[in-house]
Amino acid sequence: MITASVVIYARRDPIPHSRESTVSNVVFPAGFTFGTATSAYQIEGAVAEDGRAPSIWDTFSAIPGKVATGESGDPACDHYHRWPEDVALLSELGVSAYRFSIAWPRVQPTGDGALNPAGVDFYSRLVDALLERGITPWVTLYHWDLPQALQDKGGWINRDTAYRFAEYAGLMAERLGDRVRHWITLNEPFVSATAGYQTGRHAPGERLGDGAFAATHHLLLSHGLAVPVLRERLGSSAQVGITLDLSGVVAASDSTADQEAARRYDAWKNRIYTDPVLRGEYPKDLDEVFPQRPDPVRDGDLELIAAPLDFLGINYYTPKLVAAGDGPAGADVLPWRDHPVDDMGFADAPETFGELLRRLVADYPGLPPLVITENGVGLRSEPATTDGPIADTARVRYLEGHLRTLADAIADGIDIQGYFCWSLLDNFEWAHGTAVRFGLVHVDFTTQRRTPKASFAWYRDFLRAQRAQHADA
Ligand code: FCB
Repeated sequence: MITASVVIYARRDPIPHSRESTVSNVVFPAGFTFGTATSAYQIEGAVAEDGRAPSIWDTFSAIPGKVATGESGDPACDHYHRWPEDVALLSELGVSAYRFSIAWPRVQPTGDGALNPAGVDFYSRLVDALLERGITPWVTLYHWDLPQALQDKGGWINRDTAYRFAEYAGLMAERLGDRVRHWITLNEPFVSATAGYQTGRHAPGERLGDGAFAATHHLLLSHGLAVPVLRERLGSSAQVGITLDLSGVVAASDSTADQEAARRYDAWKNRIYTDPVLRGEYPKDLDEVFPQRPDPVRDGDLELIAAPLDFLGINYYTPKLVAAGDGPAGADVLPWRDHPVDDMGFADAPETFGELLRRLVADYPGLPPLVITENGVGLRSEPATTDGPIADTARVRYLEGHLRTLADAIADGIDIQGYFCWSLLDNFEWAHGTAVRFGLVHVDFTTQRRTPKASFAWYRDFLRAQRAQHADA
């Protein structure tokens, strides 16, 4: 049990949440977007085909010990060759949208200069196939696979990378903008900056301590530079946003030390991203989180970073239970004790999701519409069966709870316009390799056979029920 806590992102008056409730009787608004999401490095494979150059994840995963299973993203799900089958699965699932990312080193191999036509054609064909099936493509421009050539010049520590990103974003908008109207600049800059440059758990594996703040700022700047370029190339009807991974933060005890640690952790994980994007300033406690940081912020940067958005993408998985400690921001994350937890250590605590959404509304007047761009469950042991689908009941329970919470938040007047389940397929889960599975569809990584799980059937039926409700209305 958590004995006491300051809940950062706390709701003021609790709404009862029934664990038994299902969402089948809930009607989401007409036109609400339901989708599923993937990312390029996690599914595509084909890392050396058709002119693709290495990304930081190719380099990093080749270093022994960096990925727990010794794998890389090649072949992952071999989606580069099997995408028609995957589009057919999306169609069977009945989603109205599919969020995927473009591998920057596939379309602009060195992160500079002309595009690689073969790489662009791959995404162009995918977009056409989605549209033919009535599925709206949502493109993420950067989901962590920086061209290695840019890392060789400093990666996100180098301010120039932000300008390279804006150029790449504009070139892709020119090529796909006639058919793709929904664009996400960055996926989770927190993870890119801190796992990539502070703790070294992810590519490029740098451990720069407070120096990682330069990566944070340049990632945010890349977003700020890209937004006007995208708007100029795409016109006013395009939808442009960024995806942030936000967590509820709960202090492990009443002690001042733990409460202060929770506040600092909240700054490190959430506010260092939400404050600049939504308010044009870094939080006041930045000095406590990165006391020895360099100062990469130049005049005008924060105005760019705070450019108005059409939507804010939120990836939500779990709250964090935080105590004072030696980790980044002087905080340690403790294991959850009173909620079902998945094999990533993520707690199935949907009420914290609602708290987060309400706190965002309270703290950020003028908040743009929200879109949940990822939400899901990672499990290690999900053996394929021959006589029925994999019974991933923990995933179904989690998705039900989080969708119910979302429906409650919408009923309370929060402007939420879409939900994307992570993920369509089991895939290469970064430093965990393929050992942790997030898919609605099981992938046998030896044969590449795809088998829908019970969660796939559940989500398909839920989506059918939503369509039927609206058809009846
Ligand atoms: C998110 C990432 C996504 C996947 C899920 C489980 O942080 O955006 O690529 O790894 O977690």
